[in-house]
Amino acid sequence: MEKILILDFGGQYTKLIAKSVRELEVYAEVGSPDLTADQICVMKPKGLILSGGPNSVYAPNAPQLDRRVYDLNIPILGICYGMQLMARDFGGEVIRAAKREYGTATIEVCQPDALLQGLEQTERVWMSHGDEVRTLPPKFLHLARTENVTYAGMISPDRKYAAIQFHPEVHHTPKGKQILRNFLFDICKISECWRPADQIEEAVRTLREQLKEAKHCLIGVSGGVDSSVAAVLVHRAIGDRLIPVFIDTGLLRKNEGQRTKQVFEKLGLNLRCVDAGDRFFENLRGVTDPEEKRKRIGETFIRVFEEEAGHFEQELGKVDVLVQGTIYSDVIESAGTKGAEKIKSHHNVGGLPGKMLFSIVEPLRAYFKDEVRQIGLKLGIPEEIIGEQPFPGPGLAVRIIGEVTRERVALLQTVDAILREEVQRATLHRTIWQYFAVLLPVRSVAILGDSRGYGQVAALRAVHSVDGMTASWYHFPYAVLEKISTRITNEVEGVTRVVYDITTKPPGTIEWE
Ligand code: XMP
Repeated sequence: MEKILILDFGGQYTKLIAKSVRELEVYAEVGSPDLTADQICVMKPKGLILSGGPNSVYAPNAPQLDRRVYDLNIPILGICYGMQLMARDFGGEVIRAAKREYGTATIEVCQPDALLQGLEQTERVWMSHGDEVRTLPPKFLHLARTENVTYAGMISPDRKYAAIQFHPEVHHTPKGKQILRNFLFDICKISECWRPADQIEEAVRTLREQLKEAKHCLIGVSGGVDSSVAAVLVHRAIGDRLIPVFIDTGLLRKNEGQRTKQVFEKLGLNLRCVDAGDRFFENLRGVTDPEEKRKRIGETFIRVFEEEAGHFEQELGKVDVLVQGTIYSDVIESAGTKGAEKIKSHHNVGGLPGKMLFSIVEPLRAYFKDEVRQIGLKLGIPEEIIGEQPFPGPGLAVRIIGEVTRERVALLQTVDAILREEVQRATLHRTIWQYFAVLLPVRSVAILGDSRGYGQVAALRAVHSVDGMTASWYHFPYAVLEKISTRITNEVEGVTRVVYDITTKPPGTIEWE
């Protein structure tokens, strides 16, 4: 299989590079920057991409590329930090930029051939860097500039080593795909096609092999896309040795439990339901720190599973594996890759306690959300699940700022249900990538009839995104916002003010905690 190897220097968007390459139907793998030239040679990539990263190339301990890689005659694309590394390694100079740049910029294309062919004279791009190339390496050609950065792109005279300071992998660089296409097909000369949905048979074979010793496997399903696809995939591999368990944490959206049960029945999987709300609320009592919440939820989740596994073992025989629906974005955001800074510990990756009774199997770990959806559709999972918006593992707990109590969850569930109803009524639910309500820990004065109220504040969040790595806030029609706000303040006793969150990611995350 022809492949592109992406060396991860710790950039926020590294996995997006892999995703973008795969969207062009080329197989891409992410590897450590510590790989030696010999190791890379054995992997036989058709091209290398050097990712961005938070370091400065001159900083002590900054990750480096084994310079013998340049002797392998493999085409290389450097992105951001990758460009700075390449520039320095070939004899150019990198400096701290006079002006740090985050966000949209406009490039002026100086050399429209090879990497930048098919681009207009000026194009919008996404920048995120503190350093920049001050002097090009000898003989390198100048590809593009921006107002702040003279060398926004460069290429070697033989067109083998190309680099850009901006990020072609993010949505905010509209011609990013064209640039990657140029690299893959013109520079690396890739000719094989790779699609996620074609990987199912192989994935099932691998799972069968991996789980052949396992007596029974448990999977916690939430009714969301990832756990459902993971469950159906593993079910296909090992049949009823898979026990899908639905743990009601008490932190789900209104009526979520019922819906999940119905859906799994339809899929022919025998779902077992556990009502564990009391345990979760007990363990969350008095906790306000977001990381602590996630940690406790993660731990409680595992403990409940362990207990349930115990019950199932008595009933059926040994349960030794826990299957999880972890996907690629969870992995990167939990600093699962070397060099990345820790952002949030997602409960299904970072919050696991050290001592566990199960071994963990994550069949979707290498796939992005869109890829999981494609796999799910091919597996015959209904569109109502596949099209469902993402929902965080720790549930509404990360949307309740401050202490999480049953009462506050009930309040947020009602607010959230109104938001969902109105979004659906306006038929916007397939247009908005993710939308939800957040309960704030502040109160606000209100006039209720003739008396004064002092109620809670709900924030609405709706974002456009492709995979959750970057996001922009959704431009709601005012009439819909108005309807939602009016219904919330009229129908939800205790909530007297509604605000709308207009923060992009970065810098804000999608969830509030
Ligand atoms: P953030 O808030 O990090 O969220 O911008 C990015 C996407 O991930 C979802 N999310 C989670 N998903 N477990 C998950 O499975 C989690 O702990 C978690 N936290 C956030 C979030 O809803 C958004 O779609």
